[in-house]
Amino acid sequence: MRRKLAAGNWKMNGTTASLSEVSALMAAHPEPGCEVLLCPPATLVAAMAALTQGKIAVGGQDCHANASGAHTGDIAAAMLKDAGASHVIVGHSERRADHAETNEMVRAKAQAARAAGLVAVICLGETEAQRDAGETLDVIGQQLFASTPDGATGANTVIAYEPIWAIGTGRTPTLAQIAEVHDFIRSELAGRFGAEGGLMRVLYGGSVKPSNAAEIFATSNVDGALVGGASLKAADFGAIIAALDAA
Ligand code: PGA
Repeated sequence: MRRKLAAGNWKMNGTTASLSEVSALMAAHPEPGCEVLLCPPATLVAAMAALTQGKIAVGGQDCHANASGAHTGDIAAAMLKDAGASHVIVGHSERRADHAETNEMVRAKAQAARAAGLVAVICLGETEAQRDAGETLDVIGQQLFASTPDGATGANTVIAYEPIWAIGTGRTPTLAQIAEVHDFIRSELAGRFGAEGGLMRVLYGGSVKPSNAAEIFATSNVDGALVGGASLKAADFGAIIAALDAA
């Protein structure tokens, strides 16, 4: 069975003061049935991990593909692990766009994450133009194949489907569109990784909020969510956790 996962991506938001939201979240949801993950800016990983003590998993938002070296400003997967992280997001569409990350780079980062003992949360998603052109499954299939390393397992890999046009826009695909892509990803994973492909969680991301979480979580092959804006506030993320627990 795949344990449901509610993952929050704080993006470039949050300072030490924001940790009060995490305390409030833990107070309101002391024993969630689903797994809960928060990915704050790197500056907060150690403090958040100290605060959550494993009750909420903590992740980075990116890592370098190399283990160490002359890469000013970058962070190695082992450094995130050392700071208390258990996960790292790789290949978020904002990294692919802002830092020209290719599928090959994302795959190398996922490999580095695994080598450091971190779970890689590999993000995929089509643009609105690609969807309008009927290319969504082709694009997702290509990204999935090229961004996911060989040897990926249910324990070391999570896939997040995040249509780019749904991120931060308040717009979401129809439930049928979400189901189509998630069913496709599930069958591609099973075809390539066999039983392990059946164990990998596939999250939906893009404008998930308390008001739409329940219907999205009831959709075929949706194992949880990667939540941006609504993960910043304990009340909103808590409502999403509750919806996932009820699904
Ligand atoms: P959003 O972001 O929930 O603010 O749309 C999701 C994401 O980019 O992970």
